[in-house]
Amino acid sequence: MNEVMTNEVKKKIVYSGVQPSGNLTIGNYLGAIKNFSAFSEDYECYYCVVDLHSVTVRQVPAELRKRTYEGLAVYMACGLDPQKNTLYVQSHVHEHAELSWLLGCNTMFGELSRMTQFKDKSRKHAENINAGLFTYPVLMAADILLYQTDIVPIGSDQKQHLELARDIAVRFNTTYSETFKVPEPYMPKSGARIMSLAEPTQKMSKSDPNANAIVYILDKKDDIIRKFRRAVTDSGSEIVMGEGKDGINNLITIYSVLSGKTCEEVEREFAGKGYGDFKTAVGELCADVLRPVQEEYARLIADKKYLEEVMKLGAERASYAARRTLSKVKRKMGFTDIPR
Ligand code: TRP
Repeated sequence: MNEVMTNEVKKKIVYSGVQPSGNLTIGNYLGAIKNFSAFSEDYECYYCVVDLHSVTVRQVPAELRKRTYEGLAVYMACGLDPQKNTLYVQSHVHEHAELSWLLGCNTMFGELSRMTQFKDKSRKHAENINAGLFTYPVLMAADILLYQTDIVPIGSDQKQHLELARDIAVRFNTTYSETFKVPEPYMPKSGARIMSLAEPTQKMSKSDPNANAIVYILDKKDDIIRKFRRAVTDSGSEIVMGEGKDGINNLITIYSVLSGKTCEEVEREFAGKGYGDFKTAVGELCADVLRPVQEEYARLIADKKYLEEVMKLGAERASYAARRTLSKVKRKMGFTDIPR
């Protein structure tokens, strides 16, 4: 048994978290989740529904519960196989909260004060600037470091948090001896960056108050087509990419990612056609690509029993890895075990 284990090549570890919500955008899908399933062949992957993070903003309890199931179902509908990946819910693995406290005592007030997301969110939620909002990046560091993660796929908005996680890991390793793997960010290649349909110089964000700017994975076909038809473009007419043509560049990018064709191929395909025809074509292709994802989601969300089995399996696997790191950390810091 031992021999088998030592002979096994240890795969590198990929870790990522998403907020509990079924409301993912095509930006989340095309820019991130769709590519996650490719990792599972070569890496050991953990994908976490970060419900503990979500309560830094006040939640309606029944809604949070519902959205946790939705989050899990949407991951799976996008192609993440719960056998090949560890899919789990953050609050099911208590080691996250515990490590977060220990790391918090190794993180400086000044470091957390510099986090731009904290500053933004404090402005947005001025009535509820709670301590959790401030220590949010410490919990995220705990998520990542608990699993001895090598690679973290993230969007550019989370880069600063990952830098902090790296700083915390290095500091801990220097103070208490080698304990944590220092993780690297992985940012998908350009082209997968999907912009708002209303303001194509800005990233498509699921919290955009303008519903026409965003296409959700679970949007109905008619809505998808309508949103693309209303997409903001310039006053030109040719389907070619170019400087200052942010709207058309974005639509060509989306069509290219959805169809697997290069941008040049897309330009050739639509040579001689106008913006109107092209917008309809992008909308229709998008609806077609999302249809199987939506059907799978509908099937999963109706099968609560199966989702709970996935939750259980994920929590077991995650706890196993998390327990090992946490006990190492506690030993190094000088905590005692319960005498046996
Ligand atoms: N903070 C991330 C976000 O808002 C979510 C997250 C929590 C995460 N823990 C993580 C992402 C660990 C990557 C790794 O998008």
